[in-house]
Amino acid sequence: MKYIYIKTWGCQMNEYDSSMIATLLQEKNQYLMTTDPEKADVLILNTCSIREKAQEKVFHQLGRWKKIKNKNPKAIIAVGGCVATQEGKEIYKRANYVDIIFGTQTLHRLPKMISEVEKFRKLSIDITFPKLEKFKHSLKNRKTKCTAAISIMEGCNKYCSFCVVPYTRGNEISRPCDDVIFEISTLAEQGVREINLLGQNVNAYQGPTFNGKICYFSELIRLVAEIDGIDRIRFTTSNPLEFTDDIIEVYQDTPKLVSFLHLPIQSGSNRILQLMKRSYTIEDYQSIVEKLIIARPNIQISSDFIVGFPGETEEDFQKTMIFIKKINFDMSFSFIYSSRPGTPASEIQDNLDIKEKKKRLHILQERINIQAMLWSRKMFGSIQSVLVEGISNKNAIELYGRTENNRIVTFQGPLNMIGQFVDLKIEKVHTHSLKGRII
Ligand code: SAH
Ligand code: F3S
Repeated sequence: MKYIYIKTWGCQMNEYDSSMIATLLQEKNQYLMTTDPEKADVLILNTCSIREKAQEKVFHQLGRWKKIKNKNPKAIIAVGGCVATQEGKEIYKRANYVDIIFGTQTLHRLPKMISEVEKFRKLSIDITFPKLEKFKHSLKNRKTKCTAAISIMEGCNKYCSFCVVPYTRGNEISRPCDDVIFEISTLAEQGVREINLLGQNVNAYQGPTFNGKICYFSELIRLVAEIDGIDRIRFTTSNPLEFTDDIIEVYQDTPKLVSFLHLPIQSGSNRILQLMKRSYTIEDYQSIVEKLIIARPNIQISSDFIVGFPGETEEDFQKTMIFIKKINFDMSFSFIYSSRPGTPASEIQDNLDIKEKKKRLHILQERINIQAMLWSRKMFGSIQSVLVEGISNKNAIELYGRTENNRIVTFQGPLNMIGQFVDLKIEKVHTHSLKGRII
């Protein structure tokens, strides 16, 4: 028996791609997964280039794997994902022991590439962008839990001035609506209860239908909600631009869609948003939130923030802080701006000291943590419907699951509850997690 080891960095799309790779190789090449790189016949690195030092990190990791290859010269090393797409053959030039370089849109060709390397022992490279081809090899036999992510669209056309995604994942393209619905129905038959619709900009979804029409995102959510067995619907990530009224209306009439929305704003200063080429203002964002609250009064919003964008003044930063309080964001992600080669923002002069950027990030995160804790406290004593995902990592006598608003709850309960919804009374609260009791 041969073994594969996969290391995945980056976003949920990469996680999704890796699960596709694992399924394909187990199906077609009869490989088994291993958690021990030393034991692997094929080592796969699925890379991310969204922020800092991505390339360096890749070569450090490859250096470690080179030692494995020295001991086992037959081991095959494959590098894929965003760094591979951007760097291509440069990776081989610096690390000539790499056997395969594959892109974000060519991962389904890996089984064939591996066979070629086994036969001919020379570099196999394919970082082209064949549109949607990888989805033809759907995840029929993928291992599922009670929650599953499914990619509904790929790529991004927005070209925000700081972001590499449009260059590494290609232009926006939506999967056909029927394929998405068929895949989710299959997952539901396998016991999946919660679905997470994935894409760089899911609200830009425009999937072709069998009768030549276009299915927009709002319609897709309604179709998913009709699938028996699917009781909870999430999506990541959406963009304030194109967050149209028809999507907001879904919150009004589709209770399966969770009352928790991750809607990245990036900055609370219109001047910075403009430099970022985000194409919306904080007023636009606020108007979306106001409409959402009317549609779904208990909605909680989380966001992504970039601090220290080139030229961000103290005043700009304060505007972000004011906006954070105004929207009352729940737990969010925040990052120091990282200059990405080839992006327009990398050409704007950046005079801000890294110490100052770190200070701003710290202040912002402290504020977000306070707000997240206040949101948690509101849940104290309440009854929450929790989808039980498994045994807690921290305490083997406890189970864990997630609330609708994405908080992890641990509690004591029987193993046969895994995969089911259970009502829990919340008895202890932390910033990001809770403790509950079965009622
Ligand atoms: N489509 C999403 C973003 C996906 S990228 C949107 O519209 O917002 C995920 C997050 O990474 C972004 O929201 C941003 O906060 C962060 N990010 C992207 N490029 C970055 C960079 N160059 N430096 C720092 N953070 C970055
Ligand atoms: Fe990146 Fe902006 Fe698209 S952040 S993923 S270019 S919406």
